Amino acid sequence: MTAQIETVHVPLDGGRAYDILVGRGLLAGIGARVAALKARAVAVVSDETVAAEYGATVTDALAEAGLRTALIAVTPGEGSKSYAGFAQVCDGLIGHRIERGDLVLALGGGVVGDLAGFAAASLRRGVRFVQAPTSLLAQVDSSVGGKTGINSPHGKNLVGAFHQPSLVIADTATLDTLPLRELRAGYAEVAKYGLIDDPEFFAWCEANLAEIYAGGPARETAVASCCRAKAGVVVRDEREDGERALLNLGHTFAHALERLTGYQAARLVHGEAVAIGLCLAFRFSARLGLCPGQDAGRVANHLALAGLPTRLDQVPGGSGDADQLLDAMRQDKKVRDGALTFILARGIGKSFIAPGIEAGAVREFLVDELRG
Ligand code: NAD
Ligand code: GLY
Repeated sequence: MTAQIETVHVPLDGGRAYDILVGRGLLAGIGARVAALKARAVAVVSDETVAAEYGATVTDALAEAGLRTALIAVTPGEGSKSYAGFAQVCDGLIGHRIERGDLVLALGGGVVGDLAGFAAASLRRGVRFVQAPTSLLAQVDSSVGGKTGINSPHGKNLVGAFHQPSLVIADTATLDTLPLRELRAGYAEVAKYGLIDDPEFFAWCEANLAEIYAGGPARETAVASCCRAKAGVVVRDEREDGERALLNLGHTFAHALERLTGYQAARLVHGEAVAIGLCLAFRFSARLGLCPGQDAGRVANHLALAGLPTRLDQVPGGSGDADQLLDAMRQDKKVRDGALTFILARGIGKSFIAPGIEAGAVREFLVDELRG
């Protein structure tokens, strides 16, 4: 049974507007919603864990709506956001005779969404795709906004394309099977929206953390609020010429950590890296005299309460030294003429884009952070 459905509209131009539907139990009715997009065939791209849990529900619902279906499942985890994973999905789609007018449906977390979206952007020079996100992270962030791509051995998300989905269906009931560690990791991106520009939302998160985790109505409110915030940013700055970069608060540090831990989930998953990155961004801002130290403390306290790591010494196996971290940051997509751009904050909900940050200042900060 589907309970209440929240619809967030993303009013992009050029016929690319789409809806994000948020509600419990939406997957059961996915067939009619996807059939309304007028495709003949739908290839569901998932990972093996999510496919085992929800693959049949989705392919059955699509088949009942008269659509030809195929299911392609990759190995779970960041390792599939690779050239090899991309080849597996593209060749699978071609093998299943997915044509220009057909659809790719990404069923899974952010890894599947980014990978399937990039395959859809590339297949026959572009086919439409639907996002059915099943992790908290994917429901609040990665399924919205059209950033798709894979990692290179040189760094995160360095090969990709902007390709907007035609529809996003976020069934919050799927979060009931998400491992607690992944729920927590996704929560880092929830808190991020408050930290960027919405201090009231951050305070609401502090008050509602337990219910978001327990699966009460606050969970749907959180997902819909984040989607609304992200949709607004994406419509104003789809290609990240400006304010969209704020969504990367904490991510310059996070992407470096992911690279240095070899994208190994056993050590660090993306949302955990983001949690540490958010804390580092606030502590770095405080050190530069931009942000009150008590705000940096409040961020770290809340993320720790949420069960997330907040310091470099919490990275299992170590985070690398200051020079290794700095070197990894130089591959960030926000690097211009070799100068680092960070998202810094003047306080909770007051983040801003800070170009031209001196590498020396970052290095000294990291040395002190690593000293503890
Ligand atoms: P993920 O896709 O690896 O999913 C996490 C784990 O949870 C996987 O093992 C998966 O199998 C499992 N899982 C997912 N849904 C489940 C469910 N309902 N029940 C049981 N298990 C489930 O990781 P993620 O955290 O969802 O996404 C991280 C990725 O998203 C990173 O690659 C990151 O770069 C990307 N990302 C992209 C954007 C964007 O705008 N495109 C934004 C943020 C993050
Ligand atoms: N997650 C960052 C963005 O979509 O821009």
